[in-house]
Amino acid sequence: MNEINTPCLDHVLQPVATAKGLPNAHYIDPETAGSEREKVFFANWAAVGFGKDVAEPGSALPMEFLGLPLLIVRDDDGTIRVFQNTCRHRGMILMEQAAKVKGVIRCPYHSWCYSKAGKLITTPHVGGPGINVAPEIKRDELGLIEFKSHVWNDIIFVNISGDAPAFEEYAHDLLQRWREFDQPIYHGGPESSFKLEVNCNWKLAVENYCESYHLPWIHPGLNSYSRLEDHYHIVQPDSFSGQGTTVYNPRLDDSGRSFANFDNLDAKWDTSAEYIALYPNVLLGIHRDHTFAILLQPLDHQHTIEHIEIYYAKKSSITTDMGDLRQKNAELWKSVFLEDVFVVEGMQKGRQGIRFDGGKFSPAMDEPTHCFHHWVASRFTA
Ligand code: FES
Ligand SMILES: [Fe+2]
Repeated sequence: MNEINTPCLDHVLQPVATAKGLPNAHYIDPETAGSEREKVFFANWAAVGFGKDVAEPGSALPMEFLGLPLLIVRDDDGTIRVFQNTCRHRGMILMEQAAKVKGVIRCPYHSWCYSKAGKLITTPHVGGPGINVAPEIKRDELGLIEFKSHVWNDIIFVNISGDAPAFEEYAHDLLQRWREFDQPIYHGGPESSFKLEVNCNWKLAVENYCESYHLPWIHPGLNSYSRLEDHYHIVQPDSFSGQGTTVYNPRLDDSGRSFANFDNLDAKWDTSAEYIALYPNVLLGIHRDHTFAILLQPLDHQHTIEHIEIYYAKKSSITTDMGDLRQKNAELWKSVFLEDVFVVEGMQKGRQGIRFDGGKFSPAMDEPTHCFHHWVASRFTA
């Protein structure tokens, strides 16, 4: 690295008033990104997809998670499973396009076939022409490698190392905080699904999402009805952080139509909404009538895809006649997220500054961001 004055991670682990941020290497150095893959993404519960994209038994979706080829499959029982997308024979990639698997997952190379639950079930000619078994090929030992996975609010999480506590324990504090919202959600459809490609390290998207400090300058439109002083910080050390507003009041339709609310919410939610980053890579928004999730897919240490999906509280909100309202809501969110692009990309560029020392946090305004830095640094020092 060509840095000077690089603060060590001990500085990040200080209280917010005296802490520095993560060193530049955590944003611009491929080697550090390699360690981060193991310590941050593989050792924890990371988001890799959405249940709606494997909607039916047999739906299969290949994806690359920091270079690791995954195959997300909904099996015949409706269970979502996440496999390594690699054949157990000679390591051929199994699927390269999303598809509906009719019978079995067939390797295109020598046609070993796996059930949707990952069991190796046929091995043609493996014992010689016309002989489909061999004593050395023990099928029950050669199923697809499956990773621990969990679906919450339609978000598919994986723990690649297999060492993390159960998801319910990992996300316990957030599940508790939002337990009132433990209700069915309904994806809005095509207009409620979009992605943004940003030229920055994934962490900068988290850091920016956590804080409301930038609101007056980056989101003047939003700030006109949901001002800086209408926001509060949310900080749960070692788990999540973000911000909330106390003036959520959607005005989407002149004719008086609106989206129906979740059932039995506390009166607080009449006007509150919360925006929380569940570490490492999912950004969540919750409102009385809809939710959204932004899954951050790091392509490498300086390129990230933000997958945005919007869900509604009631089926009545996803009908065709509400399509224009959903479109409006999606456009509103998209415009807000687009406003953030130049700052997350700008921070990436700024981190090429060889004398940047990780930066200084405002104790009053940057605590949610520091909470995230502290969590990341703790993964490296644990
Ligand atoms: S590599 Fe898959 S069957 Fe040979
Ligand atoms: Fe923003």
